[in-house]
Order: sequence, then C-alpha cells, then structure tokens
Amino acid sequence: MKDFILTQTLLTAPAFIPEIRLHLATEVTPLWQATEDTLREINIQPPYWAFAWPGGQALARYLLDQPSVVQGRRVLDFAAGSGLVGIAAHIAGAAAVWANDIDPFCLEALALNAAANNAPLTILGQDLIGQPLPPIDLLIAGDIFYDRRMTDHIFPWLQTIAGQGVEVLLADPGRAYLPKTGLTPLARFTVPTSLDLEDRAERETVVYRLEGEGGTPLA
Ligand SMILES: C[S@@+](CC[C@H](N)C(=O)[O-])C[C@H]1O[C@@H](n2cnc3c(N)ncnc32)[C@H](O)[C@@H]1O
Repeated sequence: MKDFILTQTLLTAPAFIPEIRLHLATEVTPLWQATEDTLREINIQPPYWAFAWPGGQALARYLLDQPSVVQGRRVLDFAAGSGLVGIAAHIAGAAAVWANDIDPFCLEALALNAAANNAPLTILGQDLIGQPLPPIDLLIAGDIFYDRRMTDHIFPWLQTIAGQGVEVLLADPGRAYLPKTGLTPLARFTVPTSLDLEDRAERETVVYRLEGEGGTPLA
C-alpha cells in the first residue's frame, strides 16, 4: 500500500492550505482507475486519502487561523482521510491528536502525511462508532456527509458525543446528506476544488459546531 501511495501521488500542498504538504493525486482519473485495476480483488474503497476535500481544507484553515480553538486540547480527527485536519490541529497547538479512519489505505497515507509534516498523530484504524473514545476534548471531521448510510450511521453518534461535553466541529461544502438540524455555523470559506472531483471550480464550505442533546460528561 505504501508503494502504491508513493507511486500514485506527489508530496504537495492543497490549494487552500500552503502550510501542509500531503501525498496527493495530481490527476483524479488515473488514480481511480489504478485503484480499481490493481486492488479490485480486495474490495477497496475509492481513494479518499489522495485528495484534500473541501470540508477538510475549510476546517484546517479555520484551525490554523484560530489556533485558540485547539491550543492545549486533546483532539480526534474522525474520518481523517489524508489527515489534513489532524495535522492542522497539531500545527495549531493541540496537546495530542488522534486520527481515525476505517480504510486501510488511509491509515498508510495518514502515517506518510504525518511524517512529512513532523506531526506525531496517533493513528486509529478501528470503527469507533459506539466504541470508547480516547480522552478527547474536541472532535473534528471534514466532509463526512456525502452518503446517506454514512450520515445515518455517524450523525447520532456525533450528537451523543457532543452531548457528553466533547466539542464537535464539522465542515461541509453542501453535501446532499448534511443534517438539517443541530449545526451552528462558525465560519464560511470559498475553497478551490478540482473539476474532476466536484461539479464546480470552488465550493462554499461552512465550519459548524454540533450542538449536543442531553447526555452526561465523559469521564
Ligand atoms: C471524503 S473523505 C474526507 C477525508 C478528510 N476528512 C478530508 O476532509 O479531506 C471521507 C472519509 O471518511 C472515512 N470514513 C467513512 N466511514 C467511516 C467510519 N465509520 N469511521 C471512520 N472513517 C470513516 C472514509 O474512509 C474517508 O476517508
């Protein structure tokens, strides 16, 4: 997997986040094709890890511009993909950062990208939904509402976490399954995007705080 990632990507900064370099695909179609051709037999996910999604870029920009949001806090980058948001949290002064994704390729890309930015992320590869979390103060997640089943699976869990005293910050570029309630907008960015990935050259992307409902504080 490591060789595949290094062969298929360039170490480069996303358009909106010049501070951070990631192993990113420069062209979408060849990588998508290579992923399917090479890895079909192991039922692999699309290569989410090879792109800095608008939600991730907006959230990373927000944390880098407002470091007081993360300074001294213990942070989980959930559905981390390339790890852009978690790396931004580290640079902005987080006390500790965990990065979680369930795609094995993401875990490898996370390790490579963390090393490229000297960011000591603790990488978690298990599905954390409904499971005990590391001792965090803040959960951050970019661009996770593009699939109905994923939103149905993840959003109630995020609401529970927010209700237990963990701050939950999300960023979304207007995906179809963004929940309609419980989100307070904090900042808005126009993020440049690739026409190969999105249907427009830039996307209005909003950073939200998720308001929790009930619950008791996490131990
Ligand atoms: C569109 S990518 C966003 C990546 C990154 N946050 C960003 O904004 O660039 C969505 C990611 O969610 C991950 N994912 C999907 N379901 C998940 C789950 N149950 N737990 C953790 N990660 C999950 C996928 O593997 C993928 O890497």
